[in-house]
Amino acid sequence: MHDLLITSARPYGVGDAVDLLIRDGVVVEMGPGLVAPDGIPTLDADGLVLLPGLVDLHTHLREPGGEESETIATGCAAAALGGYTAVFAMPNTDPVADSDVVVEHVRRRGEEVGLVDVHPVGAVTVGLEGVKMAELGTMAMSRAQVRMFSDDGRCVHDPLIMRRALEYASALDVVIAQHAEDHRLTAGAQAHEGVVASRLGLAGWPATAEETIVARDCALAREAGAALHVCHVSSARTIDVLRAAKAAGVRVSAEVTPHHLLLTDARLTSYDPVNKVNPPLRTGPDTQAMRQALAEGVIDVVATDHAPHASQYKDTEWAAAKPGMLGLQTALSVVVLACVESGLLDWRGVARVMSERPAEIAGLPDHGRPIAEGEPANLVLVDPDGVWTVRGENLASLASNTPYEGMRLPATVVATVLRGRITAQGGVAAPSGAAQNGERV
Ligand code: DOR
Ligand code: ZN
Repeated sequence: MHDLLITSARPYGVGDAVDLLIRDGVVVEMGPGLVAPDGIPTLDADGLVLLPGLVDLHTHLREPGGEESETIATGCAAAALGGYTAVFAMPNTDPVADSDVVVEHVRRRGEEVGLVDVHPVGAVTVGLEGVKMAELGTMAMSRAQVRMFSDDGRCVHDPLIMRRALEYASALDVVIAQHAEDHRLTAGAQAHEGVVASRLGLAGWPATAEETIVARDCALAREAGAALHVCHVSSARTIDVLRAAKAAGVRVSAEVTPHHLLLTDARLTSYDPVNKVNPPLRTGPDTQAMRQALAEGVIDVVATDHAPHASQYKDTEWAAAKPGMLGLQTALSVVVLACVESGLLDWRGVARVMSERPAEIAGLPDHGRPIAEGEPANLVLVDPDGVWTVRGENLASLASNTPYEGMRLPATVVATVLRGRITAQGGVAAPSGAAQNGERV
């Protein structure tokens, strides 16, 4: 079951090419000149970079309740095609994933699709309403073994609820992932507060709305001895807060999205809602600060905030459009464009911020592991010289709200391998059930 020979791959893009023999989903032998035992499929990886399968801590799969925008099947196909072997599905679904029943449904559906490991994120508060804490313990102890909790889309605003949630998180050894946004400061806000918003007449979204919540939460996390994860950092000022908190020993980690590494509010002049996202696109200096912080490790990981929205929610005027953009299939290429081509990260660095650290933060034992004998074969093969043109309609997601439409991006995912099984190859995803008869999702 799930045996494979990969030939001539370069782990982390360094050193000589090696072959890897995978049996029962585990790398059993690594070295030059391996010969495939009879009947074992072979993947020729000449010229390709081999990385541990990517792990996304922040994905919106929309199911249950938002199937007009994405389903677990289509979102997982996008993930596998993007090089991911594990994703964390945010709980802002309908019904909200605030109970063991809903998180177990998401986990099981992910398992049925079989393209990536789907780990449900549980809500911190009932219905994401910010009023009453959800049953974190029940979700953590459930079959889904929820490791991360978040009200993403909204901030856990009440400091008392946040304090209690962190105390529970400490006792349960789980992580609270905060969407840091002081809603009092962003009421009515439509765009990053700055010259572009003023010129366009859009109400401003101050960077301090993020910075103040992160400062508060770091203080609360320190007191509780809890692990806090800051979602989608967007402002340079927040980085200073994170740096100080980490230096003081606070258990805080942080993510940046691909779009906050590459895109700025200069794009808003088109008034195209494809650029509307929460937190908003910020300034050039902010994106530069994000890249630098990622390279230094002050920001730990890249997380996509993959947020599919059907056209009826996006093809409308700016104020009415829902915030969010697709991310899973473009993330690796955008990171290469923003950080590898500028020399800030090498492939080892990419493995660190897109696989190893995310797996560590969420406590996944079998992803983001070193590429070595005895390790699970969760892997991605990347063509570092590949170039592709993004077309929303060709992406696997049901929705097509990509901000990169028509852009030529570097680096292509050639194949993704989950426990020795090829889940995506040459731009085609292969779900486990359909794999036998060669169907596409
Ligand atoms: O842009 C965003 N979209 N930010 C969020 O926090 C939520 C997400 C969504 O669910 O669409
Ligand atoms: Zn969010």
